[in-house]
Amino acid sequence: MDRERLKKTARSVFDALSGAMTSVMIHLGDRMGFYRALADGRPRTPAELADELGLDERWVREWMHQQGAAGLLDPAEEGRFALSEEARCVLADENHPAFGAGFFAHLPQTVAVADRLPEAFRSGLGLPYDAFGPEGAVGFERGFSPWFRSLLVPAALPLLPGVVEALERGTAVADVGCGTGVALIEMARAFPRSEFHGYEISEHALERAAENLGEAGVDNVAFHDARHDPIPDDGRFGFVTAFDCLHDMAHPEKVIGMVRRAITEDGVWFVCDIKSHPTWEENVANNPMAPMMYGMSVVSCMSSALSEPGGAGLGTLGLHPGRLAEMVREAGFTRFEEVELRHPINAFYCVRP
Ligand SMILES: C[S@@+](CC[C@H](N)C(=O)[O-])C[C@H]1O[C@@H](n2cnc3c(N)ncnc32)[C@H](O)[C@@H]1O
Repeated sequence: MDRERLKKTARSVFDALSGAMTSVMIHLGDRMGFYRALADGRPRTPAELADELGLDERWVREWMHQQGAAGLLDPAEEGRFALSEEARCVLADENHPAFGAGFFAHLPQTVAVADRLPEAFRSGLGLPYDAFGPEGAVGFERGFSPWFRSLLVPAALPLLPGVVEALERGTAVADVGCGTGVALIEMARAFPRSEFHGYEISEHALERAAENLGEAGVDNVAFHDARHDPIPDDGRFGFVTAFDCLHDMAHPEKVIGMVRRAITEDGVWFVCDIKSHPTWEENVANNPMAPMMYGMSVVSCMSSALSEPGGAGLGTLGLHPGRLAEMVREAGFTRFEEVELRHPINAFYCVRP
């Protein structure tokens, strides 16, 4: 027995539990409005914050002490705590590209799924995204939207050949695996001459997309339940997008084939998927978030990709550039290029017929 290794292992295990507890506290901080209340940077005592939000001081004090211990709130004079400018971006500013608290919105539903996974390990069959309930659709939306709102139209689209010009002139656009439609609505606002179609299989995401559309008040967007109303195969779309969803699909090869038949001969398909490598060794060596990613895979991405019989089960780190290049070539695309856009977890590709 290596005593040092024993200690190190116990430490790793309890660090994981510490992270889990901090995650629950981040969920509560977001849900209870603590981060938003502290976003002005003014230090507050627990009593001041509790008063402001009409809450019980003792509970708020323990939450603040946890957040201070975790380094997310800064201690200030006389028992006060404050949210730094940097922590505000990550925890309170829904429109900042670094905003991360959205990913904690559906934490209870994510953890609850663990109860259903032993059966998945036995049967091999996973759960679709609807297993996370309506909160899941909202959580993924809040996680991914900051990038859509701040960078998709101004920073990403101009890097794609001819796309902005085509959108300005007016073209048909499809977003496959569109989730709650935020990316599509952002583009629809910016390019009123184009028409936008979202394809999704999650009922909760489609319901939320309809709400988002109502609030946005744009009239050039339609959402389709891809199970009954799939993307048409008549080469009508000048621009197609797929954000963080191909690796989640049970049959990505089928969807890639459908996109090939749906796109115009001079069209562009913008694919965004998780940065990954062909082997476990490379993923672990190059990605400090690999443990989180493999965990997310079991809970959501791989599970979704195995939610139909014969599913591909690619998983969160399963769609590396080489594999995607091969899949799109097999579907009849001839051009595949990586798009130079900096992102902590995603890679971007331009795929053309
Ligand atoms: C991680 S979410 C990303 C959603 C959205 N693109 C975004 O970035 O917010 C993956 C989505 O892919 C959807 N999906 C999975 N398989 C699909 C399929 N065959 N066709 C359309 N959507 C699918 C899921 O329902 C889920 O909403």
